Amino acid sequence: MFDIAQKTIDETRQGEAYSVELDSDHSLNKRFYIESYGCQMNFSDSEIIASILHAEGFGATRDHEQADLILLNTCSIREKAEQTVRKRLTEFRKLKKEKPGMLIGVLGCMAERLKTKLLEEEKLVDIVVGPDAYRSLPHLIDEAETGTKAVNVLLSREETYADISPVRLNSNGITAFVSIMRGCNNMCSFCVVPFTRGRERSRDDASIVQECRDLFQQGYKEVTLLGQNVDSYYWVDPQTNHAVDFAMLLEKIARIDPSLRVRFSTSHPKDITDKVLYTMKAYDNICKYIHLPLQSGSTRVLQLMNRTYTREWYKAKVNRIKEIMQDCAISSDIIAGFCTEEEKDHEDTLEMMRYAGYDYSYMFSYSERPGTLAAKRYQDDVPAETKKRRLEEIVSLQNKLSLESNQRDLGKTFEVLIEGNSKKSEAQWMGRNSQNKVVVFDKSDRLTLKPGDYAMVKINDCTQGTLLGQLIVSN
Ligand code: SAH
Ligand code: SF4
Ligand code: F3S
Repeated sequence: MFDIAQKTIDETRQGEAYSVELDSDHSLNKRFYIESYGCQMNFSDSEIIASILHAEGFGATRDHEQADLILLNTCSIREKAEQTVRKRLTEFRKLKKEKPGMLIGVLGCMAERLKTKLLEEEKLVDIVVGPDAYRSLPHLIDEAETGTKAVNVLLSREETYADISPVRLNSNGITAFVSIMRGCNNMCSFCVVPFTRGRERSRDDASIVQECRDLFQQGYKEVTLLGQNVDSYYWVDPQTNHAVDFAMLLEKIARIDPSLRVRFSTSHPKDITDKVLYTMKAYDNICKYIHLPLQSGSTRVLQLMNRTYTREWYKAKVNRIKEIMQDCAISSDIIAGFCTEEEKDHEDTLEMMRYAGYDYSYMFSYSERPGTLAAKRYQDDVPAETKKRRLEEIVSLQNKLSLESNQRDLGKTFEVLIEGNSKKSEAQWMGRNSQNKVVVFDKSDRLTLKPGDYAMVKINDCTQGTLLGQLIVSN
């Protein structure tokens, strides 16, 4: 029913935009067009927004010229993310001139950060809605239709949209995101998220398990549990006082069916417990992959970042993961050129990357965000060219580590969940192994497979980003 067009891919991890089409249902007489930027949480939110709008009689369109309502679900994480949205708004200005009745809404983190200022700065914007106020969207649309600028940027301590069944937008019908918590209490000094997404709160476990079960019944084979800090998931049932922590939640979802894979993102190194690691080990269908953002390898910089761990502590965590699960992949987020970073801090980061042997990393130059602790307390004093050079060194080291990691897999056999044809050829399947590595292999006449099936694949070649292998056809 939903058809997706990938539009742009901005930065590495953040800033994908997509739009959807929903025009098979002609009872829907109004059309909305949505583009999403930022992290997976934002993509997941767009699916909630689509559900809310659908219930109000809005169908989605992939063609923004056909839309009565254009929505941008925005990200504030780095300055560049905001610039991308501003540029997009300028493009829509022209469209609005030709079609004055059309409404434009800015949702998500930029809406929350800038609030009514956004209406002053971007005159064509009619609606501004923060991440906890999507339920009020229909009301705000009504208001905007009367010509009033409509804003709701209230943050909530309770809202988890637990009861809203997301409309799967960017779906291949096999993998889906499930939001398990919202907000963040960590206050890393560089980060705008605690300001744009508010206090941390967990969603009730029963609604999460039910959503995963429904997905499995619809044929989905993989769920990724989402939160800014999934390891601090904690839900206490108000009736029974029974508490569920992240390890317990993982277990409940893993038990739905052994053929339903479970992934999660993101783990804060300070919160991932042995209990979680042992739960991962105990269930084959909990994927052996942890995104464990380092940010910096220097204890001094980590302290300024308010990350609450030292480099030694982080190393011990990596050791623990590898001790418990030898086959567990680890990826990271790294920031180059945070305030006061010196050459020896940067060397510490490179050294830590080698130590952890990351399979993959998302790497960024530090971008000062107004209102954050770092913006208030420290000077953004690393020159742009130094940031750029350090980032390049980080990226080139990661490229080397990724290739080495893939080379270590040569000769191994993995269970691969097929997601679709490979980008290059319809004669090849593309899927992922438990470690989240992309695996490409030739289709075989001897074994009819389809997306959503599992295949055993022996790896015989690789690039930095892909494992190449051969299907094992057992007799
Ligand atoms: N809770 C998630 C964070 C999401 S933001 C987590 O801890 O992984 C994703 C990444 O963006 C962060 O891990 C960090 O590496 C990067 N980031 C956040 N703020 C930034 C900033 N001001 N400048 C550059 N990168 C930043
Ligand atoms: Fe930002 Fe830190 Fe929270 Fe991640 S854990 S969202 S980096 S404050
Ligand atoms: Fe961006 Fe907000 Fe996610 S700032 S990274 S969209 S939480």
